[in-house]
Order: sequence, then structure tokens, then C-alpha cells
Amino acid sequence: MEMKLGNPHDWWNNAVLYHVYLRSFADSNGDGFGDLRGAMDRLEYLLELGVDGVWLSPTTPSPNDDWGYDVSDYLGVHPDYGALSDLDEFIDRCDRLGLKVLLDLVPNHTSSKHEWFIKALSDPTSRYRKYYVFAKGKPDGSPPNNWIDATGSSAWTLDPSSGEYYLHNFLPTQPDLNWWNEDVQKEFENILRFWFDRNVAGFRIDVAHGVFKDRFLQDDPPAPEMSKEFSHFGLIETYSKNREDVHPLYRSWRRIADAYDPSRLLVGETWVGDFSKLASFYGNNDELNLAFNFMFVFSEFNAKALSEVVGKTLAALPVDASPVWTGSNHDISRFPTRWADGDDDKIRMALTILLTLPGTVFLYYGDELGMCDVEVAVELQKDPMTKLIPGARFQRDRARTPMPWREGPGRGFCDPMTTPWLPFGPEDARDVESQLRDHGSILNLTKGLIRLRNEAKETLSSYDLIEATEETWRYRCGSLEVMANFSEGVHEIETEKSQRVLSSRYLEGVTIRDDGRVEVGPKEVVVIKR
Ligand code: NOJ
Repeated sequence: MEMKLGNPHDWWNNAVLYHVYLRSFADSNGDGFGDLRGAMDRLEYLLELGVDGVWLSPTTPSPNDDWGYDVSDYLGVHPDYGALSDLDEFIDRCDRLGLKVLLDLVPNHTSSKHEWFIKALSDPTSRYRKYYVFAKGKPDGSPPNNWIDATGSSAWTLDPSSGEYYLHNFLPTQPDLNWWNEDVQKEFENILRFWFDRNVAGFRIDVAHGVFKDRFLQDDPPAPEMSKEFSHFGLIETYSKNREDVHPLYRSWRRIADAYDPSRLLVGETWVGDFSKLASFYGNNDELNLAFNFMFVFSEFNAKALSEVVGKTLAALPVDASPVWTGSNHDISRFPTRWADGDDDKIRMALTILLTLPGTVFLYYGDELGMCDVEVAVELQKDPMTKLIPGARFQRDRARTPMPWREGPGRGFCDPMTTPWLPFGPEDARDVESQLRDHGSILNLTKGLIRLRNEAKETLSSYDLIEATEETWRYRCGSLEVMANFSEGVHEIETEKSQRVLSSRYLEGVTIRDDGRVEVGPKEVVVIKR
């Protein structure tokens, strides 16, 4: 059955967005951290890659307990990255190149160094006390409920001077905001307007599913047998996050965004394990424009699992909504490692699939190179969050190492004499310069696929599953017909001489046999353009 998707008037429909983890992208001033001027110097690269815009990880001032996701001033720029004027210039240059800019907005919590929290602690009678979630402990002095923070400890920390606890769903230095308080809502309306006025296209909204909590602070229930990614240290976050109350909030934000113009974009980090929940963030096309799909991210990499997750996602989304497909981000293992175990053929398959699905694709910096996770020695690790989790399954630092622009010291990321904030991966020719020189590289495949996607863009808003077996997945996405072969054997598909045929192995030059059939080899994806 063919499914129709997306709204052709939305610029993000069938677009490709590029996630720049700013600290690791390009360092212009020799301090080992990526920054705005460094990123500005690489805009031509992004333009040539063919993407439509960038999402910048948080640019706001922060003590960096969670590398920017602990904001101490929502209206500024972190000095490590430059000044507000640099961000203005970045937005302006992108605009002139036709690239959209999304900033990262962190509404769930502030840093404990934010002046609101400092005032909330120092004066319990101040209006800022109600900006946060303070509560009395149980009669025996234990925390108000069983909620668990991101490190596996209680989500409550005692404020000894008042005897009350405050809530933090992430680190104790990231106190959660109280979204029931209309003053908090007004603060964020002003924050949205401040940046929209500076011409950002929109925001990626951190923890978008979690900003509202249960008013009565009820205990989270134990997790039944389910996907490990969506259970939180053995609990389901029914009351500590995932409340329906977010919907009126996002409707109000959408009204603000649309009042600027309908090209403003709100994308939610919606970490949910249920398709109808995911769909609910789009509302009736009056809430978030896009919602990250973690069920796709955490899918097994095989024909059955991927086709099922794609089918269920598309069936759940409301009319006019664009689905979001992404393989990597700064919190999880990169897909070239997680899905492909570093195997080039599988990395190429994944990129070809990602870039031939209908909707919006987010690439994480380095995905286009097939960049893998990098082992980071304990003494070099920088992520306080995963360091605090006993037996953490994944060290986020591994997915945040600097972009390898070329071979040699500094890798083109920083000055050759500078030590980057996180180590580089091995010199395995997965750098930009080497790959640009090599016609058959993963980077050139990605560029070719984005070119193909852009050429077919107008047609891509439909999806039709042809077949999914244990070995292969065949679908039609607008004018593209795709056959992904996950097996070790050879499969065949029919085509016509007049059609363009591309392969994840080497992009162009696929042999069409006299009988009009094309072989799809082991771990290969073939795309036919009608
Ligand atoms: C999600 C962000 O992507 C992650 O990096 C951060 O630690 C948490 N939210 C808390 O802000």
C-alpha cells in the first residue's frame, strides 16, 4: 500500500540536515575546542555535501557539566565558541548560502549556576524558587519519590538549608524547571523570540517528551520486559517525564514560530518507544514540525526490523507530517559502529537506506565519512554523565571525537601543535581530504546520494513497501525503487535500460544485463531511478 507523506511546502520535507557537534567540528583559535569561526570556515564543505541546514549543539554559556546541556544563560554564547556577534555572523553566512540554522534549546532544566537557580536556593521566598521543582521528603527523610536521574541515582537532591529536595532528571547540577509555572513558560517564549529575531530557522528541543512531570509526583512503575533503550534503570518514566501536558505547550510554541513565518521549524528530541506517542508530538499539524524517531535509531540492522519500523512509523504519523530518520547522534554509538561494526559495505548500505527514505534525514557530523566510535582512554574521558554511571553501556565521548578533515597532526581540526579536547580516531583514511580524492569513497557516495535525493525531492513523499524478507527489503519512495540485500547471497531485480541504476558499492556504473536484470550483491543496496 502506498503511503503519502509530508507537506511539499515545508522546506524540511525530504531535506537533509547536518548535526554539527560544535566542540568537535573545527577549532579556529588553537584551544582544542571547535568553535563558531571554525565552523564558518567549513560552510562551503556543507554546501558541497548538499545538505539543507545545520543543527548546532548548544551554543549557550554553560559550566559544561553536560557539555552545554546545562545552560547558565539562554540568551548568550559560550566564550569557547565565540561571541554573540560570531553566532549572528554564522547565521547570516548560512543564510546567504541558503543553509538553515537550528539551535539547541534546553527547556527541561538549567544549570545549577543559572541565576534563577542561584536565587531559588539562596532565598526560598523568591519567585525563582517556583521556577524549579522543590518538594518535601518522606516522613523518614528519604526523597519524595522513586524517580531516578540519568546516572542511576535518586533524581532528588536535598537542599540542606531549607530541608527540601529539588528535582533533577539528569545531573544534580541540572535542576529541572517547573513547567507548571507560567512565569517559566513566559521566560521561554521570550527566549524563542530572542533567537527567532536573530533569524534562526528553528530549534532542536532537548528532552521534548519530558519537560512536564506528574503534578502529584507519583512513583514511576517498574519496567516490564521491553526494549532496554526505553526502560530507565528498571523503571518506566510514566510520571517523571512523558506527560500529555506537553501538547498545549508545543501548540503555543508552534503559534509563536508560525507567527514569524511557516518556515520556522521545531524538532523534538522525543525519546519514546511507542509509535502513537511519537506521532502525538506532531499534534494535528499544530505542534512540533518534526520528532526524532528513536525506534528507528535503535532498530536492528536487518530487512525485517527496519522495514517494520519504517512501516509502523509512517502508518502512525498524521497527514502532512514528515518522518525523521537518523542513525547517529552525540548520545549514542555512531551507526557505522552500532549497525555496521565498521564494515564499509554495511555503512554504505545504511547511508543509502537513510538517504532514500521519505521525510527528513539528519546526518551527524562524520556520518558522511563512515566515522566510527573512537575508543577513549579513561584518563582522556570528558563526559561527566557517563563517567558517573556504574558500568555504563556506552561512553558518549566515543561518539564526540573531533572531525578528521585531513591526515596528520591536528587532522585539520586544530593546529598541529594543539591537543584536541578528545583524541582523534585512528588514521584510517576516513578523513575528508583523502575521501574527496577517492572517487569511490564513502564521502563521495554520500554526496552522490544527497544529489540523487535532491533531484528526486519533489517525488519522494510516498512510500510503498514492495517486499521484506529475511534477506532483502524492497521499497519504492517516489521515483526511487530500492532493493537492500542484507544477505551473503546474490539477489536480482528487474529494470529497464532507460532507468538510472545506482549502487551503495560504487554509486554509478551498475551493469544491467541483457535480460534487463540487475544483480544485488551481498551487503549491497541498489537504487533504480525512474
Ligand atoms: C539530551 C541531550 O542530547 C544529552 O546530550 C543531554 O545529556 C541530555 N538531553 C540532558 O540535557
